[in-house]
Amino acid sequence: MRIQPFLEAKREGLEHSSGDIRAFIDGVVDESITRAQAAAWLAFVNCKGMSDRETAALTQAMTESGRVLTWPGLSGPFVDKHSTGGVGDKISIILAPVWAAMGFRVPMISGRGLGITGGTLDKLEAIPGYRTDLQPEELRLVLAEAGCFISGQTAELAPADRILYGLRDETGTVPSIPLITASILSKKLAEGLDRLVLDVKCGSGAFMKTRTSARKLADSLVRVGRAAGLEVDSVISDMSQPLGVAVGNAVEIQESIDCLKGGGPKPVRELVEKLSGDPEACRQVMRSGLAYEHFERMVRAQGGDLSKPLHGAGIQSEIVACGRGGRVERCDALGVGQAAYVLGAGRSKASDAVHHGVGVLVHVSKGDVVEPGQKLATLLHDGGKGLDEALSAIRDAIGIQEA
Ligand code: URA
Repeated sequence: MRIQPFLEAKREGLEHSSGDIRAFIDGVVDESITRAQAAAWLAFVNCKGMSDRETAALTQAMTESGRVLTWPGLSGPFVDKHSTGGVGDKISIILAPVWAAMGFRVPMISGRGLGITGGTLDKLEAIPGYRTDLQPEELRLVLAEAGCFISGQTAELAPADRILYGLRDETGTVPSIPLITASILSKKLAEGLDRLVLDVKCGSGAFMKTRTSARKLADSLVRVGRAAGLEVDSVISDMSQPLGVAVGNAVEIQESIDCLKGGGPKPVRELVEKLSGDPEACRQVMRSGLAYEHFERMVRAQGGDLSKPLHGAGIQSEIVACGRGGRVERCDALGVGQAAYVLGAGRSKASDAVHHGVGVLVHVSKGDVVEPGQKLATLLHDGGKGLDEALSAIRDAIGIQEA
């Protein structure tokens, strides 16, 4: 392709044709377009934006830059969800088996965390033996056996996104809404889905800090996803405080198991019910044990062993109690996430390992009335690393208005 006119067009804010976008993505993947040229284009898009038509063309070209999974011999509908992520967000681990129990097939390709807490794969790897590197034929077998899988991105899926995401990270162009939209949807479309539910979080612990920016992203994802032929719905959910009690890897698996058995914290169960699209059927499969049965089948089919203790068990704990009592006016998601991070639950670069056992249990939420000396949080730590910093992050994160 002639790259200079293409770059000049976006610099001037003109619309690209779908054919030009396709040729650009092909060039990025076969490296006939240099990293510097691709980075310049990302910067122009970040400033000038893209129409929905261009974003849909970019999404499609990125999806088709790699393999698009199909599920021959399996009946659908094939559904998945995407969350923009947050502190204590373990919803995927619960919702995938819930949907499987409701009769859907859930081919869930998920990611690792970068930043304050681990991602869904990091959490699942707290289960001894659980494999997140399934190959396409194995994915099909697990989907047939359990009705769902949760595994990692393979090199063959949407390779253009991997290249562009790395460049966006280096060039400060990650926040562009059309680029986020194409990045998320290209990977989801490569899963061979019929339906996608988006959980766009807003608040201090989320990528989108305000409801307005979360709405903008959700609307873009819904419009472009529908243009690409997917049935898409979105929910905006609160991330100003952590979701549930557990923040960490193994502790979030334990909390997910509690929810799958019909227990666990109410806000977690309620969000799963809302995202499921059928709250009554969702409650029913959790209460009856059917959702947990699908979880067990998925874990077993992916090599995991739930009879063994989760990795990182036997960790030490430190209780944070309140001084004089009063009303909880703030339980800041970002602050709690930072406490979990300094204890080792998250990572700052992709090659870092996460500690599966450490984390935070948050015992209060905004609006609760607490007595003097009541337990506010429990820090799970491995003997000192980051403990002082975590204690101070938690004390700052939980604000008590004295009565
Ligand atoms: N998640 C993605 O997969 N891509 C983005 O650009 C942002 C969040």
